[in-house]
Amino acid sequence: MNLFSYGILNDLLAKMKSFPLLSSFKTILIFHNLMLMLLLAGTITTGSGNCNSMVAPALLNWKTTLNDKSRKLLQSWVGPDPCNNWTGIACNNKSFVISINLDRFRLRGTLDHFNISSLTSLQSLNLSNNQLTGPIPFRLGELCSLESLDLSSNRFNGRIPPSLGNLTRLHYLSLHDNALFGLVPTELGGPNSGLVDLRLSANHLTGPIPSSFENFTRIERLHLHTNYLTGSILSKLGNPETLIDLSLYYNRLTGLIPSSLGNYSKLVTLYLHQNQLSGSIPPALGKIKTLVDLALSVNNLTGSFPEELNNLTGKLETLWLASNKLTGRLPARICDRGSLRIFSANNNSFSGMLPSTIRNCSRLLRLRIDGNQITGNVSDAFGVYDDLEYVDLSYNKLYGKVSNNWARCRSLMALKMSNNNFSGVIPDNLGDSDQLQEIDLASNLLTGEIPISLGRLNSLIYLFLHDNRLRGSIPREFGKLLNLGTLNLAKNALTGAIPSEIGDCSRLRILNFSGNYLRDVIPIKLMRLAELQVLDLADNSIIGGLPLEFGKLKRLETLNISHNNLTGSIPSTFIDLSSLITIDISYNELEGRVPNIHIFQLAPFEAIENNKGLCGDIIGISECRLNKKHNSKNTMALRILIIVPTMCFLFVMITGILFIRLSKEKKIEPQESVNISPFAIWSYDGKMVYESIIEAVENFNSNHIIGFGGCGTVYGAELPTGEVVAVKKFNMLEDDELLNVKSFENEIRALTEIRHLNIVKLYGFCSHPRHMFLVYEFINGGTLRTILNDVEKAIEFNWFKRVHAIKGVADALSYMHHDCLQPIIHRDLSSSNILFDLEYIPHLSDFGTAKFLKAGSSNWTSFAGTYGYCAPGMKLKPM
Ligand SMILES: *[C@@H]1O[C@H](CO)[C@@H](O)[C@H](O)[C@H]1NC(C)=O
Ligand SMILES: *[C@@H]1O[C@H](CO)[C@@H](O)[C@H](O)[C@H]1NC(C)=O
Ligand SMILES: *[C@@H]1O[C@H](CO)[C@@H](O)[C@H](O)[C@H]1NC(C)=O
Ligand SMILES: *[C@@H]1O[C@H](CO)[C@@H](O)[C@H](O)[C@H]1NC(C)=O
Ligand SMILES: *[C@@H]1O[C@H](CO)[C@@H](O)[C@H](O)[C@H]1NC(C)=O
Ligand SMILES: *[C@@H]1O[C@H](CO)[C@@H](O)[C@H](O)[C@H]1NC(C)=O
Ligand SMILES: *[C@@H]1O[C@H](CO)[C@@H](O)[C@H](O)[C@H]1NC(C)=O
Repeated sequence: MNLFSYGILNDLLAKMKSFPLLSSFKTILIFHNLMLMLLLAGTITTGSGNCNSMVAPALLNWKTTLNDKSRKLLQSWVGPDPCNNWTGIACNNKSFVISINLDRFRLRGTLDHFNISSLTSLQSLNLSNNQLTGPIPFRLGELCSLESLDLSSNRFNGRIPPSLGNLTRLHYLSLHDNALFGLVPTELGGPNSGLVDLRLSANHLTGPIPSSFENFTRIERLHLHTNYLTGSILSKLGNPETLIDLSLYYNRLTGLIPSSLGNYSKLVTLYLHQNQLSGSIPPALGKIKTLVDLALSVNNLTGSFPEELNNLTGKLETLWLASNKLTGRLPARICDRGSLRIFSANNNSFSGMLPSTIRNCSRLLRLRIDGNQITGNVSDAFGVYDDLEYVDLSYNKLYGKVSNNWARCRSLMALKMSNNNFSGVIPDNLGDSDQLQEIDLASNLLTGEIPISLGRLNSLIYLFLHDNRLRGSIPREFGKLLNLGTLNLAKNALTGAIPSEIGDCSRLRILNFSGNYLRDVIPIKLMRLAELQVLDLADNSIIGGLPLEFGKLKRLETLNISHNNLTGSIPSTFIDLSSLITIDISYNELEGRVPNIHIFQLAPFEAIENNKGLCGDIIGISECRLNKKHNSKNTMALRILIIVPTMCFLFVMITGILFIRLSKEKKIEPQESVNISPFAIWSYDGKMVYESIIEAVENFNSNHIIGFGGCGTVYGAELPTGEVVAVKKFNMLEDDELLNVKSFENEIRALTEIRHLNIVKLYGFCSHPRHMFLVYEFINGGTLRTILNDVEKAIEFNWFKRVHAIKGVADALSYMHHDCLQPIIHRDLSSSNILFDLEYIPHLSDFGTAKFLKAGSSNWTSFAGTYGYCAPGMKLKPM
């Protein structure tokens, strides 16, 4: 049946009901005659406006206001007759345009210049799923033949025109998923409204549901969800005889759920979740025998689940009760007929036993009862569910064994049972569920060994077994879990060594083995975990030294190796752990110099206490004794002896560009007679300055470190001229991909040309196979981070100064983005990269990761910068 005949037929059927005695023959005759009459009437009304001649210009005019692409899609719109094969246009046999359907045409534009009132015979207008903006024209209310209007999924804004209420033939009105605001017009409701299907969801509508909505006569589907509607749910809403689907979720509705909803004998879907509804669940809802989906979650509902609702179990497939304040027992006969698919009762205060019908609830897809006080032995409470994807029983008082049946649920992706009292062993067959992505059995009383079979769970991303009584060793087979992101085995009684195979879990981000009896050394292979952010090996009996390769864990944010028997010194490569936020090395046998890096300076004394003999410039520990320093100096000297000549040779041979702009009065006379190095810029001999810098920082001795950036260490260097500069040395690892030296040079060259008050001046650079460093202006007031972390400085840095600082940074960014020849994106703006001089003027620094934006090119690159500082919207890896 086409849309045109829909409304008429309904009228006819209504009329036929009032002539019950007519024979079927007569009925057909009358039907035929009425049809003719109506068609003629239609012809007369529309014909009188001589509209067809107006339609083509109206459509063509509108077409010209759309963007290029849209116009191309409407290529066929040419000539005087829209009925001549125009895309999306349908006509009746009298050549009147009766339908426009441009669903999913990616049209861009507005309806502002669409002379819509000329389309008087239009019965159906569908412009859904485009990118149309602007208001919905109130003149749509003049299209009195309109039966179906669909403007959904566009970007229309403004108010819903009340004139739409004049469209008495309209039975389908869909405006959902736009940016409409204001009140829902009263005019849409009322006894004269012929609406069967009204969808206004996903807009910004406010105010209460209009009282005229009590009186829809034919409404079947009413969608008002995802708006900002307030007030309470009308005790009568639409027609109880006709309403099938009522969706009011995600609004701000208050008050009680009206008992009268129990009279809606055809209701199939009732979505009231995510509002602020209070009171208890009305027992009367149990009368709705047709109900399939009932969602009441995330409200303030109290009381128990009414017995009467057990009567619903005939057809019920979805029952959402989560996040309310419901008490009492879970619905006992919830799955009597086995139709239930989704049951979520999590985050309530349900108590008592699990309903026994759960075992036979074979169609279950999702089961969530976490965060209640449900008790009982559930060893045999669960069956095998072919479709089950997600089960969460966490945070209850359940006990018994972990059932073998879970492994037989072929679709199960998440098995979560933490914080209960489950005992016994982890079933060995769990390793057969190779679709499992998450296992959480933490905080129970599980015993026995970790089954080796778990190493076969190829899809596993999360494995939480911490806080149990597991014994034995960590299975080597875990090395095959190539998707594993989190492995938490803390607080068990695990013994043996850490298997080096764990280093093969290349996606691992969180590794926690703390609180076990693990022995032996930290496997060097663990240092391959390039994505690792948390490494917690605390409270074990690990021996040996810290591997030099620690510096490769570039993304490490938390490191806890306290309470072990680690010996030796802290490797110098710790300076490469530039993302570290928390460190704890206390209670070990460590000795020697604590690297002079910021993380140790920020850490509390407790983080390094109780070691054998740590020394360094850190409060609470002794300064390193001279002879030790001598030792290190000696080896350093040896290194310099070997490295420097090689370096200088290489330097002269290969590359190294540097220039320094000094204040004019300190300028040294150019030495014209000396053979000028090809890398010297201006009047300076690059080689000489290079050497004086290397000398000034004592070949990058850690005593000269003044800070850390995203990809390097910053040293302070006083040149023979008296000038103080900051030298940023890039971290270079053998296996790091070689920087493209040419493009590096080009970038830096451009950066040296930037001159802005709020940007740290870059004087020059050296690119050399051994060292790659930048020479910056030295700013001596500290970073924003150090200022904010220092109580006194933070007070002195008052609001007035802060506002100025923000303006300065904004200025600098604006300059970089808009005023440079090529736009420059900083990509790592963090509190450590904003330096202050003594006047609290901010200077943006560290363009180490900045890349030039080529106009028009795509700039999606890999992650740059400091972890913890990426913008919230930036997802590193979809999970
Ligand atoms: C209508 O247009 C289509 C393609 O756009 C073409 O294949 C068809 O032949 C046209 N029909 C008429 C009657 O022009
Ligand atoms: C719009 O159409 C109506 C009737 O079809 C006509 O009277 C009016 O002039 C048109 N307006 C414009 C701006 O074209
Ligand atoms: C609904 O359930 C109640 C209590 O469980 C029962 O007494 C009543 O007869 C049931 N009503 C219908 C209509 O089945
Ligand atoms: C589950 O179904 C089986 C067979 O259909 C039946 O024997 C058993 O009583 C049912 N169990 C429950 C708790 O309903
Ligand atoms: C586990 O059992 C112990 C004693 O039987 C009890 O004290 C504890 O509260 C239980 N824990 C949970 C989460 O039910
Ligand atoms: C490191 O682990 C130990 C033992 O588990 C714990 O007491 C300490 O608080 C942890 N340190 C930090 C900084 O979290
Ligand atoms: C460290 O080793 C010593 C002797 O080897 C031992 O007595 C001590 O218990 C060990 N400490 C830890 C925390 O394992």
